[in-house]
Amino acid sequence: DSHQTWGGRFSEGPDARVAAFTESVSFDARLAAHDIRGSIAHARMLARVGVLTDAEFDATAAGLEAIGERIRAGDFVWDPALEDVHMNIEARLTEDIGALGKKLHTGRSRNDQIATDIRLWLRDRLDALSAEVARLRAALVDLAEREADTIMPGFTHMQVAQPVTFGHHMLAWQAMLARDSERLAEVRARVNRLPLGAAALAGTTFPIDREMVAAELGFDSVIDNSLDAVSDRDFAIEFVSAAALVMTHLSRFSEELVLWMSPAFGFVDLPDRYCTGSSIMPQKKNPDVAELVRGKTARVNGHLVSLLTLMKGQPLAYNRDNQEDKEPIFDVADTVMASVALYADMMPHVTVYADTCREAARQGFATATDLADYLVRRGVAFRDAHEIVGQSVQHAIRVGCDLAELDLATLQGFSEHISADVYEVLTLEGSVAARDHIGGTAPAQVRAAAARARHTL
Ligand code: ARG
Repeated sequence: DSHQTWGGRFSEGPDARVAAFTESVSFDARLAAHDIRGSIAHARMLARVGVLTDAEFDATAAGLEAIGERIRAGDFVWDPALEDVHMNIEARLTEDIGALGKKLHTGRSRNDQIATDIRLWLRDRLDALSAEVARLRAALVDLAEREADTIMPGFTHMQVAQPVTFGHHMLAWQAMLARDSERLAEVRARVNRLPLGAAALAGTTFPIDREMVAAELGFDSVIDNSLDAVSDRDFAIEFVSAAALVMTHLSRFSEELVLWMSPAFGFVDLPDRYCTGSSIMPQKKNPDVAELVRGKTARVNGHLVSLLTLMKGQPLAYNRDNQEDKEPIFDVADTVMASVALYADMMPHVTVYADTCREAARQGFATATDLADYLVRRGVAFRDAHEIVGQSVQHAIRVGCDLAELDLATLQGFSEHISADVYEVLTLEGSVAARDHIGGTAPAQVRAAAARARHTL
């Protein structure tokens, strides 16, 4: 059976299990639109340099466009016996336009073709993902402005540390995602280079014009070395790495939302439409989106290790191992896109319970550092101030009250440097307002930071 494209030197077709094991069309059919776009650019270039006539190019391009239409309409039968997306389309082209279809692969290999397809596909996904990350960042900036005055406990070691504003907390997430945007843009720049023209590995004997193909396909440059062009997948690893950081940020964020939505915290609530219930406990409303984003981070991080491991043993140039890059790349793109999009939809609808947040900050002596700073301003060395406040806190714990509830005489028993104005620094509002510098949690600074962030969107 030499119905295989490469069947000439073979005396029998592949064993059924081999065919099933080696086929990729069941997943790489997803690249069809980009494969066709690349093929049309290649054919146009072949006509420009005189390998095809203009009439041959016109018929080839029309045939490819028609196949693209049929694929879009769901009216195309993929044949696993033809291995992959490339040979399915080429075989169909030859059926449709006749022997001319057999000229399309001149000066090209599936090795540079697949590398080109993935880069074109990934570029589109990167652009879509960047837009969604920006939408999520805008939602966080809105929320930060809305809650610039809302006081909540800031935590270290999950213990109440110092009061912060809810807006300040949201802008921390925004800042992480802003770096993710930068990373995605940097990845895009390295994805957007043309491998086509490398052919199988060494280049081609035809007088190809790679610059023309690059320009037509919107690539910034051509990849210089043909062996490198067909074999490395570092661009995909960089994409998955940037995606893993996006997911890791969302996963930390998810962990907080899950905690905050627990009745034990009660800081926030999400609309019912972003939650699910329990089949047994009628009262339950679970933050499953957040939990699943946290869970799906595992598969993205896993794919990063898969791709690194896929590359590490490969000698130059192309090896079939690289076919294993597709499913991880697709799954990462789908997972990170769905996660970011859901968060971007959900965040504008978060309800923040300001009173509960404030009450949580009131517990745990969140303004103890403010009292120490107050003593320093009155000439006490910081280490001594730390000790004095520590003793005050121990006393407050013993009598079961907050620092601000200790009367002046009691406080003065710990330090003669304390006077009546101490109560200004012991309030939560005074504490956050006093952190009034770039990057601080004062409401005025949060509003200014939100404005700066909006400017970068
Ligand atoms: N399906 C292959 C891949 O994903 C396409 C290139 C195949 N090249 C080859 N010589 N078999 O990498």
